Amino acid sequence: MPYLLGIDIGTTGVKTLLVDERGQTVSSCTVPHPMYTPMPGWTEQDPEDWWKGTVASVREVLRESGVDSGAIAGVGLSGQMHSSVFLDERDRVIRPAILWNDGRTTPQCRWITERAGEENLRRWVANPALEGFTAPKVVWLRDNEPENYRKVRTLFLAKDYIRFRLTGEKATEFSDAAGTLFLDVESRRWSEEMLKALEVPEEILPPVYESVGVCGRVTKEAAELTGLKPGTPVVGGGADNACGATGAGVVREGRVLSSVGTSGTVVAPSDAVQVDPEMRVHTFCHSVPGMWYVMGVVLSAGGSLRWFRDVLGQLEKTAEELTGVDAYDLLTKEAQMAEPGSEGLIFLPYLTGERTPHRDADARGVLFGLSARHTRAHIVRVVLEGITFAMRDSLEIIRELGIRVEEIRATGGGAKSSFWRQLQADIYGAPVYTPSNTEGPAFGAALMAGVGAGLFSDLADAADELVHIATTAEPDPERIEVYDEFYRVFRSLYPALRERFRDTAELVRRTTRR
Ligand code: XUL
Repeated sequence: MPYLLGIDIGTTGVKTLLVDERGQTVSSCTVPHPMYTPMPGWTEQDPEDWWKGTVASVREVLRESGVDSGAIAGVGLSGQMHSSVFLDERDRVIRPAILWNDGRTTPQCRWITERAGEENLRRWVANPALEGFTAPKVVWLRDNEPENYRKVRTLFLAKDYIRFRLTGEKATEFSDAAGTLFLDVESRRWSEEMLKALEVPEEILPPVYESVGVCGRVTKEAAELTGLKPGTPVVGGGADNACGATGAGVVREGRVLSSVGTSGTVVAPSDAVQVDPEMRVHTFCHSVPGMWYVMGVVLSAGGSLRWFRDVLGQLEKTAEELTGVDAYDLLTKEAQMAEPGSEGLIFLPYLTGERTPHRDADARGVLFGLSARHTRAHIVRVVLEGITFAMRDSLEIIRELGIRVEEIRATGGGAKSSFWRQLQADIYGAPVYTPSNTEGPAFGAALMAGVGAGLFSDLADAADELVHIATTAEPDPERIEVYDEFYRVFRSLYPALRERFRDTAELVRRTTRR
């Protein structure tokens, strides 16, 4: 029987998933890796850690499953978007990768916007210059580490670096290329206009493939390390959001993905390119050939809950160590002791700045309305509510653009508990389904490998056939009303605080040494 492998280079770890030809999980392994914050607002990772995690997790799924590597028909790669790896002329990594949630490039974003002009950005690359995207990181390197910039011969995204280590080939694919700000998203080619305006040489960018196209084969050297068979085909794969959507069956217009990982994303596929006139949401290429999607990003979604667990949930962490019960499950249970709206407590989840809708790297988290009556249960509850309100901001823009929203499919942390699924249904005012497959982006990548290897003829049809609905949460009319009111308060807070965020960020920059 043929098998497929999906490898996702995530922010917190590398996940390798082995599935059979029916899409059933055979084995899965995640190897965590660290994230470094050498300065406030900066985030970096060592690409070598991704490679070590890839080798270890692939070895582990092969060991655990006992599957003969010769039976693996193909490998698909998925990864965190935008995170930039710079290689020198001997293909050595020059400096740590600068990640998607890094906020250092505000001056470069301003420069790019002035250089290209907002209108041209919309026409050439369908997106604004945002701190997380790749192009501002390239310009940052040129401005701040010119000796490193001069050495750059290749620019990779996270999963494409892993492809290079696995196959020796330099390649990317449309869904990830779309997040660089160098791709003409509509015509699916590198944008000469943009590269020229930013004075970045096209030679550093790898060729772009379809997600389902084979763009390399496992080398002998990589095979020895991973246990894979030399010559196993590796397809383009996709950005984690495109892969996550595919793996959840969000491959047709009308289906919308609400996914909570470190970031939270709301992904709405469309048959034609749709660009928000204010560019509050991103427009990227889908992994499904000939489709695009609009996406809103909450930078710290699961990241906010993780922060809460790590800083205020020591008790739950210890309980997890002692009993094996997940600390997040314990926290979610506690949240249920508070009422919807938590007596006026509101949380803005902007711990690492915010993308949608504010495009503001200086924004920060806020706990608003704290009173002496509030307990920890209220605070956990509003963290969950605040993350979901922030994701509703994206959904509102998607609806405004006229993209059909017929069903919402929840994945990731937000899909795990019935409480959070119901919270999403009540806050979104729409039914929330969970897909039968909960393996996330690695599963979507495995499906792409299946098309590349000829097991399926069409990616969207394969997703339709293999992904079913597992749970349904219908919104409750009374709670919709309550949440609508608290959502209005939530929305009013950022504009009131915008200038204070900016002043404080400036103060922190002045008073913190690199
Ligand atoms: C999308 C984005 C994040 C990362 C997370 O634009 O920055 O969702 O892809 O891995």
